Amino acid sequence: MTADEHTFTDADSALLYDLENPWDTDESSWEGYILRCTTLLDAVLDVGCGTGSLLHLAREHGAKGRLVGVDPDPAMLERARRRDDIEWSQATAAEMAYEAEFDLATMNSNAFQCFVTDDELRASLAAIRRALKDDRVFLFGTRHLQARAWEAWNPENGGVVTLPDGRQFRSWYQVEKVDGPLVTFTETMALLDGTPVRTAGTTLRFHTPETLNPFLVEAGFRIESQYGDEKTGPLTPDSRAIITVARAQ
Ligand SMILES: C[S@@+](CC[C@H](N)C(=O)[O-])C[C@H]1O[C@@H](n2cnc3c(N)ncnc32)[C@H](O)[C@@H]1O
Repeated sequence: MTADEHTFTDADSALLYDLENPWDTDESSWEGYILRCTTLLDAVLDVGCGTGSLLHLAREHGAKGRLVGVDPDPAMLERARRRDDIEWSQATAAEMAYEAEFDLATMNSNAFQCFVTDDELRASLAAIRRALKDDRVFLFGTRHLQARAWEAWNPENGGVVTLPDGRQFRSWYQVEKVDGPLVTFTETMALLDGTPVRTAGTTLRFHTPETLNPFLVEAGFRIESQYGDEKTGPLTPDSRAIITVARAQ
């Protein structure tokens, strides 16, 4: 085995993210709807854009407007930068300084859950509201607290991943702490014999409509509709997700 086969880099992580999280382009799905809006509107802001899948796909589907992707992670953005007909900015949501420039702001694949503290949530929503023109929408999804998704994030549910160059790693999640709606967990990449080569920790905040909606209203949004899953089923006490259409007042 060469040294490279023992190494799992940030670039590998971004590539693997794309392989494991393909965008759902089906027209009846929420992601299909976001893609259609992004393709048709004049100016779209993707907050926590990651590797830029949505904006890449929008260009491939004929988007002519201004597309801006913002993310604080340099490795994810490096992968996004494979296209140079899209604006990429390395920043957190709260650091954005756009003023009434966009027809749509969106956050996908639960990026919204990266806003952990009340202060960060308020500052991020305020910056998203400022970036939007009046009467335009913020479309985003977040996992519902009640579904306790983290209970499946354990080593027993891990597996072997294969990169396009043939390198293989074992990967698994381990929840370290659950503190009310805040869940801290690690993701470990390891050699096939189980020797860890990379461990990254994350804290995510889970919501119910009751905890989420007051922050949106305070930031100047009206909640136009909410759904309970990625197929826009109704939001109920048993829903896995909270998918929100929030209109800038
Ligand atoms: C699960 S990924 C989602 C990426 C992309 N939206 C997608 O649909 O594939 C979450 C992203 O949120 C980004 N993120 C973390 N904290 C953030 C913050 N405070 N503001 C904006 N983005 C953030 C991460 O760097 C990461 O790329």
